[in-house]
Amino acid sequence: MRGFTVADKTSAYDREDDEVDDETAVENEAAEVAADPEAADSALDDVDADDADDADDADDADSAGRPAGKPKSKRLFKSAKKAVKAESPALFSPISLRGVTARNRVWLPPMDTYSAVARAGKPTPFHYQHYVSRAMGGFGLVCFEATAVAPEGRISPCDLGLWDDDQIAAFQWIVDGVKEAGAVAAIQLNHAGRKGSTGCFSAGYEGGSVPQDDGGWQTVAPSPIAFDNLAAPRELTVDEIHGIVDAFRAAAVRAVNAGFDVIEIHAAHGYLLSEFLDPLTNVRTDEYGGSLENRMRMLVEVVDAVRGAVAPAVPVFVRISATDWAAGGWDLNQTIATARVLKEHGVDLVDVSTGGILPGVAIPVKPNYQVPFSEQVRVKALVPTTAVGLITKPKQADRIVRRGEADAVQIGRAALRDPYWPLRAADKLGLKPSEAPYQPQYIRGAY
Ligand SMILES: Cc1cc2nc3c(=O)[nH]c(=O)nc-3n(C[C@H](O)[C@H](O)[C@H](O)COP(=O)(O)O)c2cc1C
Repeated sequence: MRGFTVADKTSAYDREDDEVDDETAVENEAAEVAADPEAADSALDDVDADDADDADDADDADSAGRPAGKPKSKRLFKSAKKAVKAESPALFSPISLRGVTARNRVWLPPMDTYSAVARAGKPTPFHYQHYVSRAMGGFGLVCFEATAVAPEGRISPCDLGLWDDDQIAAFQWIVDGVKEAGAVAAIQLNHAGRKGSTGCFSAGYEGGSVPQDDGGWQTVAPSPIAFDNLAAPRELTVDEIHGIVDAFRAAAVRAVNAGFDVIEIHAAHGYLLSEFLDPLTNVRTDEYGGSLENRMRMLVEVVDAVRGAVAPAVPVFVRISATDWAAGGWDLNQTIATARVLKEHGVDLVDVSTGGILPGVAIPVKPNYQVPFSEQVRVKALVPTTAVGLITKPKQADRIVRRGEADAVQIGRAALRDPYWPLRAADKLGLKPSEAPYQPQYIRGAY
């Protein structure tokens, strides 16, 4: 299958190299910032020059009533270029993993919306609109946000949860909507560890811990080391670790019962499983600390539990931070070694992110800044990967896939401002409306 082989780097991508476009300027922009990968940090946002193009495009309408888009001269020039390119963009080629096929390689990453307000982890009509509109927008896979496997595994009191059978039905109708709109429905299962019980826009206490007498809880971690200004966690006992592994298993079964096609285990961004991986947050002296084998033990146990609980046709993904960007901490070599083990244990794709484990580290944020990590994991662990992080432009995304740097790309914050990002991208890449992931109801509004 094309998606699982390293792409021929001299083929389609190189034929596009003579195209100078407005992406280059943005790709060259670098900023040194300390970033929390799960915070909507405006310092990470860039200017989407394609959006400006699109505003210009929307002025006229042709005789069929469709927006005429670009001025005629530019259109003729573009169509000539398209004829030379001939083949369909790789970004919009399908990809199969186990029994699941995504219609394209533009995916929505998990993004916590902190919106299960006073709902004990149950999603709401907001979540329906949020996820189904992105499925209608053409994403091949829509991953639901970090969803807690236990109440004390929530990042904030307003996180989604699947720790009780009673929560399943509230997910089901949304999953049905996502699938009816043609996307694969995935869910990210999480335990927040020492970064739990935090505030958010909907619960207050933003940037700090929610007190236990106001809806917060005692957090837990591999070792009693606090994250920045957050309340100190309590060290987990081995029995408690086994209990959390069981909670992941039970939540995965509930997710499948809710209709999800794919389970993603959150082992990134400084939440519990990545706290175990990193020697700077895990100073245990038992079988869950010390050597790399010991530090990855809990993650591997979670993978085994989830893999064993869901049908063979259900893909299992793991999101991992490929580095904590700190000397003496978690790094790419440990990530690759772990990815090899995860693959042996039945993980189908590694979703490669970085950071979030330690406070106060400098992250060299710029477009594509995490893509080389995805490529290294893909090539060295021989496992399918996704790339994420400041991928905002259609050609930029297409190149990543064509170059074999990832099997799919994820569009995060750009999809918060444009749920229809894939439909716009399909047009930019030269697909005909009939080849783009339009809902039949919307085809008359095609670009
Ligand atoms: C509002 C928001 C919430 C996020 N929540 C999660 C989450 O629940 N799980 C996760 O793994 N990453 C989370 N992230 C990180 C994103 O999945 C993604 O990796 C990050 O935004 C970088 O991609 P982008 O530059 O395309 O936005 C979140 C990011 C944002 C902006």
